[in-house]
Amino acid sequence: MAQAMKIAIVDDEQDMRQSISQWLALSGFDTETYPSAEEALKSVGQDYPGVIISDIRMPGMDGMQLLKKLMSVDSSLPVIMITGHGDVPMAVEAMRVGAYDFLEKPFNPDRMTELAKKATQARRMTLDARALRRELGDGTTIMKKLIGASPVMERLREDILDIGQADGHVLIDGETGTGKTLVAHALHAVGAKAGRKFVVVRLAGEEEETLAAKLFGPMEEGGQQPYVEQARGGTLVLEDIEALPMGLQAKLLAWMNDQGTPPETRVVAICNLQEGGKTCEDHLRPDLYYRLAQMKITLPPLRARGEDILMLFTRFADQFAEEYGCAAPTVTAQEAAQLLQAPWPGNIRQLINIAERAVLQSRRGSGTIASLLMNDHDDVQAQTITTEGKPLKEYVEAFERMLIDNTMRRHKGSIVGVMEELCLPRRTLNEKMAKYGLQRSDYL
Ligand SMILES: Nc1ncnc2c1ncn2[C@@H]1O[C@H](COP(=O)(O)OP(=O)(O)OP(=O)(O)O)[C@@H](O)[C@H]1O
Ligand SMILES: [Mg+2]
Repeated sequence: MAQAMKIAIVDDEQDMRQSISQWLALSGFDTETYPSAEEALKSVGQDYPGVIISDIRMPGMDGMQLLKKLMSVDSSLPVIMITGHGDVPMAVEAMRVGAYDFLEKPFNPDRMTELAKKATQARRMTLDARALRRELGDGTTIMKKLIGASPVMERLREDILDIGQADGHVLIDGETGTGKTLVAHALHAVGAKAGRKFVVVRLAGEEEETLAAKLFGPMEEGGQQPYVEQARGGTLVLEDIEALPMGLQAKLLAWMNDQGTPPETRVVAICNLQEGGKTCEDHLRPDLYYRLAQMKITLPPLRARGEDILMLFTRFADQFAEEYGCAAPTVTAQEAAQLLQAPWPGNIRQLINIAERAVLQSRRGSGTIASLLMNDHDDVQAQTITTEGKPLKEYVEAFERMLIDNTMRRHKGSIVGVMEELCLPRRTLNEKMAKYGLQRSDYL
């Protein structure tokens, strides 16, 4: 959710404060006023969700000192200085210290609104980028996003931690929606380059020449830095590596060879596998392939992750239910079997989508999960329940786990409540919870 940006107005003259505040409030800004720099500093600091407009001449701490103070706390905070008529040297000095811009008295209200708009937009971008960097810098947050208790998921978590720590290049492949981009984030977040640059580039759908310039330069006048420069010292994620034209494959390899060991910039290449189609090896020149695939992570399709399907479905359904303020849909045994049997060509992304639609449907009180699955792939096979290809035991266990998980949630971790509802003796319940890796403390 985008947070509304504030405007803090600092001026010792009450009339001035009021008129600026009223004018900006009329233009839709959320304003707050302070009679002195000292007062303003009590509320405005690092990560302040807005911008500051301050007079320069004030008794006590003046606007210039306030500006310096704010710049030392958060150097990208936009501060607009109000200067008296003819205070040119003062304005110049303010800009040198780091003011965003200045307004000369008596000022033009339209210019003020315009500046306020530009400054708040800039502020929002800074704060968004900061939030993203924090999230990326925090490996545990991102690892928690990776849901699943199946052996493949456990392996994946270990691989991410191991490979994240290592410093060579990585290749991630898998079908669409299996979590490749999420894993690329996770690799960066848990590794030594966490907190450094993280640059994602899509290689598909670009002309070779344009792509070459964007990746390697030379930089156009006033244009963006080439991606290899932007990512220097951090992680460069190349999405759809299979779409990289041959000429650029050679260029990429040459650039990688110049990186030294360990490479200054880590490349995480992502390759989209089509079901039953060509692999990454078919698209890349062998020397590049082997450089990239020193460490390789292949994400399994959802249909191969058996027991995770129901867990993912319940988790996402719960999340959406909370978001939409309604109860999560109950999954019948038959529906559970259908979820397990569905082919999931869109993998986890498709499952998230179906979970959201199931929640909306149950809020309306109509429709079934089966009909959602059926609409999604006009494949009659998808809704006939068969146990073909998978042992019955797997369904039963997945279902049992989901049921206990759901009941524990509803009873907020009360073992007695769950024992009664499921007619299970305590010992059996404990054993099953241990078997499925469910912990009472997670539900309290
Ligand atoms: N193990 C997981 N647990 C929970 N959510 C996951 C998991 N893996 C992926 N997701 C979620 O599934 C969605 C798809 O993941 P992601 O975008 O990483 O897939 P992708 O393989 O990069 O897809 P594409 O090939 O389309 O680029 C995202 O919303 C992601 O957060
Ligand atoms: Mg992706």
